[in-house]
Amino acid sequence: MKDSRRSFLKSVSMLAAGSLLPLNSFAFGLGDKKLKLCLIGTGVRGSSFWGKRLVDNYSDILEFVGLVDHNPGRLKYAADYIGVDKNCGLYATFEEMIQEQKPDLIMVTTTDSTHHEFIVKSLNAGIDVLTEKPMTTDEDKCQEILDAEQRSKHKVTVGFNYRWSPYSTKIKQMLSRGDIGDIVSVDFSWMLNTSHGASYFRRWHGEREKGGTLLVHKSTHHFDLINWWLDSDPEEVFAYGDLEYYGGRPEKKGVNCRTCDEKDTCKFYWDITKDKRNNDLYAKNEQHDGYIRDNCLFRPEINIYDKMNVNIKYANNVYVNYMLTTYSPWEGWRVAFNGTKGRIEAFLDIPYLNSENLSQEALHEAEMNQDGGESINSKPIIVHKLWDKQETVNVEYNRGGHGGGDAKLHDQVFMHPEKEDTYKHMAGTRDGAMSILIGIAARNSIESGEPVKIGSLTHLQPRAKRV
Ligand SMILES: NC(=O)c1ccc[n+]([C@@H]2O[C@H](COP(=O)([O-])OP(=O)(O)OC[C@H]3O[C@@H](n4cnc5c(N)ncnc54)[C@H](O)[C@@H]3O)[C@@H](O)[C@H]2O)c1
Repeated sequence: MKDSRRSFLKSVSMLAAGSLLPLNSFAFGLGDKKLKLCLIGTGVRGSSFWGKRLVDNYSDILEFVGLVDHNPGRLKYAADYIGVDKNCGLYATFEEMIQEQKPDLIMVTTTDSTHHEFIVKSLNAGIDVLTEKPMTTDEDKCQEILDAEQRSKHKVTVGFNYRWSPYSTKIKQMLSRGDIGDIVSVDFSWMLNTSHGASYFRRWHGEREKGGTLLVHKSTHHFDLINWWLDSDPEEVFAYGDLEYYGGRPEKKGVNCRTCDEKDTCKFYWDITKDKRNNDLYAKNEQHDGYIRDNCLFRPEINIYDKMNVNIKYANNVYVNYMLTTYSPWEGWRVAFNGTKGRIEAFLDIPYLNSENLSQEALHEAEMNQDGGESINSKPIIVHKLWDKQETVNVEYNRGGHGGGDAKLHDQVFMHPEKEDTYKHMAGTRDGAMSILIGIAARNSIESGEPVKIGSLTHLQPRAKRV
């Protein structure tokens, strides 16, 4: 790791000197010291991707000085799991942490609806912040973040890891060099299966107040990809959405899989006690905050949509049709771009087109795996130019760490912030906002039955070409 440290320190000093400062990069200005990190929210994502993976891969250039979580059991578990130094402080609140520590970077991986609180507090404390997606869950909190960043000298980065996968990047490259001319319309469908899809309804994600519905929590990834691929801002949104499959059984209030009397008959029965990591993180710590990780999928508290259809008109006049389903027999996605010179079709994990033989349960686990995952194979993108034969472009693909995107994101942020960002992978508050605002507009449209203008939600106004 000596070389990586040298290059990191070099890049940091270049940033500090004000040269080559890419948009949305951090200007840590560390000299030869290690980067001091604080993680807020030590759940599954925080403790693995923004915790253990950083200690395992970059501990010669960074160190954790603080972990914050309001669940003391999960906080202690995460400290051991991540492998933080004994000097790292463990805190229940941001306020306790900031009295004792002055981190160079705060990473926010709490429940979605609380991100804004920690982003704003970090900026007010004069500290750069990196937040997990979604940046936040409603338009008022979004405006608060935009205002706080404007007042501050410090930066917010949004960790849009899906952008970084080589497969998504290849699509970006093909579209931006005009392989099929100007894009006029897009058809994008994302299928969540009865394992991963259902898991959202077991967790806090099933409550709109916490995750903003899947139109924000999940679709922020997808809307960000479309915004980034098209290089334009969304202008107007119309949507339908409903809850038909999950939720809706009042007698299931307060019932979780462990105590349920339908264990033998329910297709969704899940024994958390057989899953060591989830059991240690959540079941063993539920006495502290009452959070039940194996909640019933049919409990009446669920108030999000389980089928969603969104139409988006972009500022450059591209029309997008987007669909998300949450109880599909298989999990995967397909996108098609219609252009003035042809059509591009891309798809991942469609089982009848797939040579791999992963079970639907194993798919998500493999995707979240941060150990390199399965071996690299190739995935096709079909390019069909008008009046010409179709061509298949094969892209190297590794499912682990979100299609290889997770590791590339870390490398750019922590190792090579000076590296030229050719495809504009790094995302700041404007990108974070534009992706959630589609989901927020979609929610408003479902409720009102009317189209919603993105420009009516915050001070941000859509641009035909993003800057
Ligand atoms: N980019 C990705 O692919 C990806 C994948 C998974 C999760 N995520 C995001 O990561 C974040 C965390 O998700 P998760 O699955 O780890 O959830 P989680 O429930 O496992 O973890 C959230 C943690 O935050 C803590 N917390 C919540 N509110 C708090 C507060 N006010 N003060 C202190 N601690 C608080 C909880 O106790 C919990 O430990 C979410 O925003 C989610 O959208 C992103």
